[in-house]
Amino acid sequence: MSRVAFVTGGTRGIGKAIVERLKADGMKVAAGYSGNEEAAAATAKELDVMVVKGNVGNFEDCARAVKEVEDALGPIDVLVNNAGITRDGFFHKMTYEQWGEVIRVNMDSAFNMTRPVIEGMRERNWGRVINISSINGQKGQVGQTNYSAAKAGLIGFTKALALENAKKGITVNVICPGYIDTDMVAGVPENVLAGIVAGIPVGRLGKGEEIADMVSYLAGERAGFVTGATFTLNGGQYLAS
Ligand code: CAA
Repeated sequence: MSRVAFVTGGTRGIGKAIVERLKADGMKVAAGYSGNEEAAAATAKELDVMVVKGNVGNFEDCARAVKEVEDALGPIDVLVNNAGITRDGFFHKMTYEQWGEVIRVNMDSAFNMTRPVIEGMRERNWGRVINISSINGQKGQVGQTNYSAAKAGLIGFTKALALENAKKGITVNVICPGYIDTDMVAGVPENVLAGIVAGIPVGRLGKGEEIADMVSYLAGERAGFVTGATFTLNGGQYLAS
């Protein structure tokens, strides 16, 4: 039986690597995206997957996107809440818009995407919800009060949802990537990024595929005993227990 997976933010960066990996695992995969049509078309072609446009910060739009995927591929078994944005800036200069955008896209999205799929997973007694948080949700980061708050929120969300659904064959886990070689990280000012990389013990940025490998494990049949767990994948930059 081929599982169906929906990866938000799946046409670029870490999400694209996850889509590629789950497809290679034999799943039917849909990749969500919000605005970059060029990247979406390229990913659809390159990986031969369904792409679905939608705003993860909007509940109705998520419910519509989930329905589109389920109509085309079947009930969603694996949800990867990966889509995220940054609007970095010191808190004393941060606008309400910068705060709100990041909270909606990085945190409200967990409700917006998971709520429409969880009842089906419960009925079928099988599901995998994998949330992509961040090292900066664990340790905090200058310039990211909004992002750190949202990403820390995903960790609490994961634990509570895992407990609620453990008896239903559904696992819920969260991965905290460090600095990965993506467009998002490329947006960090060059001098700031150089300082960050100097603080990564393995001496380099991570790769999307390195996160995708962990998602692949968690999404698989054999990971049924792993739930409510936080996975730290950051090249040794922050040693969370
Ligand atoms: N700690 C304390 N103070 C700092 C500091 C730090 N780390 N960095 C800079 N400052 C100080 C400066 O010394 C300066 O002080 P003075 O005015 O007294 O000289 C003051 O802050 C202003 O510095 P800047 O002019 O650089 O401030 P800015 O407003 O232009 O930029 C910033 C500040 C937005 C935080 C910028 O440094 C930045 O973008 N940092 C990167 C943040 C980051 O790591 N984002 C991660 C994005 S990738 C991602 O999020 C993926 C993931 O999950 C890991």
